[in-house]
Amino acid sequence: MADTKQDVFPVVHWFPGHMAKATRMIKEYVKKVDVVIELLDARIPRSSANPVISEVVGQKPHIVVLNKADLANPQATKEWVAYFEKQGLTVLAIDSKTGKGNKQLVKAVERLAQPIIDKWKNKGIRSRSVRTIILGIPNVGKSTLINKLAGAAATRTADKPGHTRGQQWVKIGKDLELLDTPGVLWPKLEDQRAAARLAMTGAISDDVYDLESVMKQLLNQVNEANPDLLAERYKLKPEELGDANQLLESIGRRRGCLVSGGIVDLEKARRIVLADYRNQKLGNLTLDGVNEEPLATEDDTKHDEE
Ligand code: G4P
Repeated sequence: MADTKQDVFPVVHWFPGHMAKATRMIKEYVKKVDVVIELLDARIPRSSANPVISEVVGQKPHIVVLNKADLANPQATKEWVAYFEKQGLTVLAIDSKTGKGNKQLVKAVERLAQPIIDKWKNKGIRSRSVRTIILGIPNVGKSTLINKLAGAAATRTADKPGHTRGQQWVKIGKDLELLDTPGVLWPKLEDQRAAARLAMTGAISDDVYDLESVMKQLLNQVNEANPDLLAERYKLKPEELGDANQLLESIGRRRGCLVSGGIVDLEKARRIVLADYRNQKLGNLTLDGVNEEPLATEDDTKHDEE
């Protein structure tokens, strides 16, 4: 039977006051830079986007970076890259944990900055380094990326006498500096589908959402993407398959998640499946589909009213 319960019930929200403050602060940061790097999770490029990102970025040159591409479905990542390119955006898929794609990122930012440098030259303005910032929701990999880029930069500049690394700006390329503090934006918690996917990928703390509802959605998505995968992984017989509830019950039984009376400890079964998804045991599953209808969010509504 189809499940109608949709709410993920996040109990921690970004309140309007926090959002307004974060927006103000990041707008101030953005004023100081020439190019903006927006970091998204390659598994959920739509759900991991901040609802007011375009307002925050304004007219600044902007690059979309799909991080954690190592965890996403490669074909889906290609589709997402094409999707953003079609919107006229510069886009790149990277894995900032290993640093794969970081060089291309630096090059892409330098390319986006070139017209600005040319303009300075034409106006006879003394050229300074081009500056950039990384923006994104919590856990999308901002610090990992900054550390990787800054680490590489530190090695490059270490042997230059008198060259000390600034407190705030890190040199990451030829005439390119990165703000070493990321801009933290809030996620789309009001959009229940996005909230569930943020929970699945670990972007929302495990204490603040309804695991039952999230896991139903995850099981349905895994099943839809690859109907044989759960049966193979958990060695389920045909009669043990079914909807998300039946699957969970069967997985729990197979994995020995039993409490007294032979009842399945569903909570334990849910945690096993969630850990398996996060540890790549259920494949490289991209949860956001390029062709899915985006849901209207309460955030959008609130924002329109401001
Ligand atoms: P944030 O600053 O945006 O909040 O995110 P942060 O860099 O702290 O990264 C959040 C988690 O995502 C970290 O895992 C980090 O290692 C992981 N991560 C970041 N980029 C990538 C990537 O491209 N691929 C993969 N597979 N993981 C990535 P963690 O479990 O919280 O920490 P740790 O165990 O890795 O130290």
